[in-house]
Amino acid sequence: MFNPHTSRLAQPGLIPDFDRPHGLPVFGSVQDALAAYEGDDPIYVLYPKLIESAAETFLNGFPGKTIYAVKANPHPAVLRTLWASGIRAFDVASVREIDLLKATCPDAELFLMHPVKSRQTIRHAYAAGIRHFAFDCAAELGKILVETGDAADLHLHLRLSLPQTGSATMPLDGKYGAGYREAVELLRAARPVSQKLGVCFHVGSQCMDPADYIRTLSYVHGLLDEADIRIDSLDCGGGFPVAYPGLTPPPMQDYFARIRKGIEIVGFSDLEIIGEPGRALCGAGGSTLARVELRKGKDLYLNEGSYGSLFDAANCAWKYPVKLHRDGKSSEKTEDYRFFGPTCDSLDTMAGPFHLPSDVREGDWIEICHLGAYGQALATGFNGFQSETTIAVV
Ligand SMILES: Cc1ncc(COP(=O)(O)O)c(C=O)c1O
Repeated sequence: MFNPHTSRLAQPGLIPDFDRPHGLPVFGSVQDALAAYEGDDPIYVLYPKLIESAAETFLNGFPGKTIYAVKANPHPAVLRTLWASGIRAFDVASVREIDLLKATCPDAELFLMHPVKSRQTIRHAYAAGIRHFAFDCAAELGKILVETGDAADLHLHLRLSLPQTGSATMPLDGKYGAGYREAVELLRAARPVSQKLGVCFHVGSQCMDPADYIRTLSYVHGLLDEADIRIDSLDCGGGFPVAYPGLTPPPMQDYFARIRKGIEIVGFSDLEIIGEPGRALCGAGGSTLARVELRKGKDLYLNEGSYGSLFDAANCAWKYPVKLHRDGKSSEKTEDYRFFGPTCDSLDTMAGPFHLPSDVREGDWIEICHLGAYGQALATGFNGFQSETTIAVV
């Protein structure tokens, strides 16, 4: 039988194919995996084909270089799948992410796009061969220059804060980025000390309106005009969405078309264009299997919660698509449920509502889908509830 510690043994339902890039135990279906599972913890599922297909969408459609924002899901299986799909550049934020990439994809090009880094991180990154650094103020620019010994080969990226409120479900504008005036000054200060200079921005995660990108490109154009500074690259950040209940975005090609059009209109065609998707590369390609430990009315107590992979379901009230898995039939009638996680505090509540068959009972497994980004990546071991089990379903 399958259990996390002996998962490399060939067992019924388990296809022992560890030569695939992701290196995970492989099952033909979630039902096969559950039939073979003896553990007590939730199971993280990756669908490598969906991750490959998302990578292909970007590699064929995004009008520039695609770099994967590792924070969305740093599981080595995800990194290896993306590498095997042709993604060659990765956005890292910390020493551990740098070391992880060096270990899993040693030939990858790394971008340290966190706008605020420790001096030790900057030194570590430069020694590891990283030349791409983001900054959003003079003090951070100074840190980069000092800690790289005033290196002559830096590609610096000025992170902008965006003036307009966009359509992103998860705004990222409260913390980082230079405002208009400051950006003008910083571009002038950074030009002479950069081998290459670029600007970068983030329209916010799960951006629902492709026009946000075109509006931002026009803002960048005005800013560069004012600064009268030549730049080499433009990084459009992340924000590319995934479908969730109540949050159905336009097709990805609309986002690419708007960016392409914006580049053409404002005359950025000679710049190196970069995109930093996280969610869009791995969100649809992962899910969590959580078991029902108890049912009280329409409340389901699960072995997974807000301190596990359901952080956004609890704290941002996101409704993920859900499916019931049971060995046998379930009711055709449905109910709206609320989920409770396994820890003792009331924050560990996922309000949903989650739409499932009316006869959900103890022992059923619920697959919480489209959780490949910012799911497993956010899981803690609080209260001893955690899972080491990740499988691939092909
Ligand atoms: C610098 C940077 N790049 C890229 C991303 C990825 O964003 P998303 O997952 O919305 O594509 C983030 C997310 O926080 C980020 O901070």
